Amino acid sequence: MIKLSPSLLACDFSQMRNEVSKVEKAGCDMLHLDVMDGVFVPNISFGMPVIKALRPHSKLEFDVHLMIQDPVRYIKDFADCGADLITFHYESCNDQGEVIEKIRECGKKVGISIKPSTPAFVLEPFLDKVDMVLVMTVEPGFGGQKLIPDTLSSVKQVCDMAKMRGITIDIQVDGGINPENAKDAVQAGANVLVAGSAVFGASDVEAAVRSFKNL
Ligand code: DX5
Ligand code: ZN
Repeated sequence: MIKLSPSLLACDFSQMRNEVSKVEKAGCDMLHLDVMDGVFVPNISFGMPVIKALRPHSKLEFDVHLMIQDPVRYIKDFADCGADLITFHYESCNDQGEVIEKIRECGKKVGISIKPSTPAFVLEPFLDKVDMVLVMTVEPGFGGQKLIPDTLSSVKQVCDMAKMRGITIDIQVDGGINPENAKDAVQAGANVLVAGSAVFGASDVEAAVRSFKNL
């Protein structure tokens, strides 16, 4: 089944709570929350207080994408404020195993992500330890960019590596995803689609969600 996780980064920040309700009613499966620290990526978004404030207003799975340096420092905080799935970047730390363990300790699902230029094979040792791999389809840091087509070969590689080892894993794509290119991402092996502009920027959000779900 294809799951859709709209990225809140593209919503109207002055209406956050209503924007979450809107995508929940439209039938989205998860809510993608992009946390940026201005160090790992050249942009700052929002952090724990915003996630905590939204948590009581939604039943959606909170899919927290950490674009922060040395994420192990903040895993417990993100777990406590309501994250269900915590994804960190392979490139953001030296000891990925430690971060995975910390997220597990907090009882949350684990995702590990690579930037477009990081080769997919680096993920091989972690495939049996995580619930999800996130292959970034743009350089992380900003919404509204165009998908980099080469990144879909990393999606296929992750999918092949998992199959070869008999591992069932979610594969998420994030960045520049729209109902047109989502087909290619799914064909490459992705089953969790993140979309910011294509959902929150649509004039008819329900229709946009439907077009993803009908892929
Ligand atoms: C980029 C973020 C994405 C982004 C997606 O660093 O991780 O989640 O907000 O937005 P769109 O779909 O507009 O590219
Ligand atoms: Zn993201």
